[in-house]
Amino acid sequence: MKQIFVVVLVAFAANCWAQNDANLGIIPAPLSVKKAKGKFTINPETNFIIDSPAHKAVILLKEYLRKNGYSNGVVDMNTMSRKQGPIKNSILIQTNFKGNTAPEGYELKATDDQVVLNGRGPGLFYGVQTLIQMITPEKMGFATIPCGEIKDEPRFRYRGMHLDVARHFFDVDFVKKYIDVMAMYKLNNFHWHLTDDQGWRIEIKKYPKLTAVGSNRAQTKVGNFSGNNLDLYDNTPYGGFYTQDQIKEVVAYAKERYINIIPEIEMPGHAAAAIAAYPVLSCDPSKNYKVSETWGVVTDVFCPTDTTFRVLFDILDEVMDIFPGKYIHIGGDECPKDAWKASTFCQNLIARESLRDENGLQSYFIQKIERHLNASGRSMIGWDEILEGGLAQNATVMSWRGETGGIAAAQLNHDVIMTPGSGGLYFDHAQGKSALEPLSIGGNAPLAKTYAYDPVPAELTPDQQKHIVGVQANLWTEYIATPAKAEYMLLPRMLALAEVAWTPKAAKDYDNFSKGRIPRHLAMLEGKGYNYRVPEALGVSDTTLKGGEFRFDLSPTVEGGKVFYTIDGYTPRETDMWVNGRLNVNVPVGRAIDLQTTVISPAGKRSNVVKTTLDNGK
Ligand code: ACM
Repeated sequence: MKQIFVVVLVAFAANCWAQNDANLGIIPAPLSVKKAKGKFTINPETNFIIDSPAHKAVILLKEYLRKNGYSNGVVDMNTMSRKQGPIKNSILIQTNFKGNTAPEGYELKATDDQVVLNGRGPGLFYGVQTLIQMITPEKMGFATIPCGEIKDEPRFRYRGMHLDVARHFFDVDFVKKYIDVMAMYKLNNFHWHLTDDQGWRIEIKKYPKLTAVGSNRAQTKVGNFSGNNLDLYDNTPYGGFYTQDQIKEVVAYAKERYINIIPEIEMPGHAAAAIAAYPVLSCDPSKNYKVSETWGVVTDVFCPTDTTFRVLFDILDEVMDIFPGKYIHIGGDECPKDAWKASTFCQNLIARESLRDENGLQSYFIQKIERHLNASGRSMIGWDEILEGGLAQNATVMSWRGETGGIAAAQLNHDVIMTPGSGGLYFDHAQGKSALEPLSIGGNAPLAKTYAYDPVPAELTPDQQKHIVGVQANLWTEYIATPAKAEYMLLPRMLALAEVAWTPKAAKDYDNFSKGRIPRHLAMLEGKGYNYRVPEALGVSDTTLKGGEFRFDLSPTVEGGKVFYTIDGYTPRETDMWVNGRLNVNVPVGRAIDLQTTVISPAGKRSNVVKTTLDNGK
């Protein structure tokens, strides 16, 4: 009988990769890495010598050592007698060193008998994050760190990740877990989207109905809002909010990790939950309002009356009391003007204030809010719609509808945070075109697209470019009801965002990121209990290849995982053959077969199946 397929397997050498990697396995890739030969070995006698035992970075490191079963000494340098020269078999961590590092920068040098980490404040914290990433556990109590020299500092001062807790509510434990993973990757601003049409999620003591009424919706739309006419609701009440005490706890938790929290209180649109609680905030208080049960943009918006401003100022005062950061986000996006057009009050206000139209009224609204925030020493951030009708005086603009708003704002000398959906920064978009991706708002923002984004538009002058203070990705949660799905949509894209935000453009390298570093990080995140999307096997794609003899080099996208495959038409699974390395497939003349692959991680998470058709003249 004629042999149809010849399959040759070659073992894959997966160890030592961090040593071989140009970035020593670190995400985000540092500003500069000089590799050296050899490695430092942590053994039970290795001491961590520290000049600042109370530093947050040291607390993080101690926590890491404890959780990972190391019992090494953490020695306070100040209690040691002065010693000359390097102290062998030690990891020296210091804030009081001579030398320059940028405010968030650090320097780390590993030789085979000592590791020295220098940095101040957040810089030391980021240095410890890098150090932790460089540690490869060996046998019990032993680990290695590759030798080399790292000098590092971020490209942007604002490195943000957003979470919408209005469409779906995420509890304090989850928010802390989210903050933890942000900190691991050196992000420093958590944008907490606390209010929207579908729920008001922050306790405001002066207006208790905001949560008593506004945090609850009667039911929730099932399936996609657009392009799917299921017309089905789940008939299940949904609610949740944070008390001010809980919020203070989260703010303190984030601060320990050098993460500032930016609260967002949406106005004048996306206000249906607030209006359901207090109809007096609308332009027609006689109407019946309810907390929205479906998605999209609704026409129930705040009316710019004295009452509304008094209530919003009170709300913002309470918000400012519990969020100490400089920035308060007031939304400003997607405010339909229907209610204002129909309102005699609004039309009179437009005339009295000589405003151009309803866009001018939006501007009037936002500027009044900005003055209130500025009077309390805070600064306002808004989505790019706040440009319409005239930009508030000191506002920072978050450019989400492409980069146009951000470019216009920078040209007006306003600070800008780039977060365009078109740039792969909307993590509610799908991570691939496969029908196997879960329900999402749509779009396609695969890892490579997020990674490729550059926040600085070429059309800005160098001075205008300085106004691009940073970059952020957004996780809107209409279609994300569970922590597992939130993590799936977040990871690994957030790692690409971190590299966009931190690493100099010239040092970015997608091949190195996706093949050289991501697999180890996904295994590490899995070990820490995060869910994530398993990228498809490396070495294949959904395509048709012509020919008779094929050689593939297959590797898993999660360290310790395996590439399972079939050539028999069945969907590959853990009961099939696997190969990490060379796979040769010969296809007889006149036949076509499908090579189907899936990556299965150590914990059993699987990637989408990739089908590569091998066509030898069928
Ligand atoms: C937004 O996505 N509506 C800011």
